[in-house]
Amino acid sequence: MPADLPTGGSPMASVTIDGIGKRFGGHQAVQPTSFSIPAGAFATLVGPSGSGKTTILKMIAGFEEPTSGRVIVAGADVTRVPPHKRNIGFVFQQYALFPHLTVFDNIAYPLRIRRLPAQETKARVGEALQLVQLSGFGDRFPAQLSGGQQQRVALARAIVFRPPVLLMDEPMSALDKRLRDEMQYELRDLQRKLGITTIAVTHDQTEALVMSDVVVVLNRGAVEQIGPPAQIYRKPQSEFVATFVGESNILRGKAVEHERGFWLEVDGKPRLPLPGMAHGSAGRSVAYVLRPEAVSVGDGGADAVNVEGEVLETSFVGESRRLRIGLGWGTPLIVKVPNRVDLRTPQVGERAGVTWHPGDASVIPS
Ligand SMILES: Nc1ncnc2c1ncn2[C@@H]1O[C@H](COP(=O)(O)OP(=O)(O)OP(=O)(O)O)[C@@H](O)[C@H]1O
Ligand SMILES: [Mg+2]
Repeated sequence: MPADLPTGGSPMASVTIDGIGKRFGGHQAVQPTSFSIPAGAFATLVGPSGSGKTTILKMIAGFEEPTSGRVIVAGADVTRVPPHKRNIGFVFQQYALFPHLTVFDNIAYPLRIRRLPAQETKARVGEALQLVQLSGFGDRFPAQLSGGQQQRVALARAIVFRPPVLLMDEPMSALDKRLRDEMQYELRDLQRKLGITTIAVTHDQTEALVMSDVVVVLNRGAVEQIGPPAQIYRKPQSEFVATFVGESNILRGKAVEHERGFWLEVDGKPRLPLPGMAHGSAGRSVAYVLRPEAVSVGDGGADAVNVEGEVLETSFVGESRRLRIGLGWGTPLIVKVPNRVDLRTPQVGERAGVTWHPGDASVIPS
């Protein structure tokens, strides 16, 4: 085993993938894809099952050879460098612990191959166990742990050697919500403190939005959109992103010129003003995208968009109430209103005004 691997305090490293793609037989699992994650940033890959998330992580780590393109870590082309020399921490989707080693020895493994002195190894493993809330579990074997505990051991093993780059494939999927919230917070804290450039895969939308500096949305092996969480959420660039990340109302129609501006025409009538349309947009098919929580019941005044409809359904979802309101055109609007005793929720069958700020809508060409 190589003795020259760094054991921490490594300089921060940016990660760039430059046109990497992967073909499995006749199937293009990842289209040639490029993006760059700045040193010290936390990036999250989200996308449907089979969209190529794991394959991209494996190509960055070196466990899967790209069919095209290059992987660049801290400015150096590592495309041909074997995984153990890339100095990247990796948490696999299947935890992949060594079954014949105790928890302690599993976590100590990356330090032993780096020939760290025994005393420091002990201290570092202790620290890592504490981080994942498993102090006292060092002597157990993986088979004696729950799934969530095994997952946390895998996480501890990936960070114990303080790699400049950490890749995690759904590292918290087996944890309950409370533990997950705590680990999210602590992991983010540690990641910031050590400046570890992190790329994580998650199916948990909130986790992606809460943890990340950058969110990469993948669809069918290609990047749909990349940006800070607020931008992905507030300004989705495609219907796919609008519906995959969070919930969206989508009203489809045609841009028409009306009252000195552009309007959304549905069923032959102009229905809503379209913000930010360029000249020459008349006749284009567009999707008008609006988050449920951006809409409220009532009249928002002259600067707001105001429409009227009939309440088709109301449901209780804990912190909010969801209303489905039929406008008499397009698809019914989903509206999320706060659940407060002082706010009266209109009942099924009633007519209700609904309103939103035009700036809360996104208009996407379709
Ligand atoms: N070793 C392999 N041989 C053949 N096809 C593969 C192989 N690994 C992955 N694939 C295919 O490549 C595509 C992308 O797989 P990948 O594991 O990257 O998806 P994913 O986004 O991680 O999905 P999930 O959310 O289910 O984990 C899928 O269609 C998958 O079936
Ligand atoms: Mg996967």
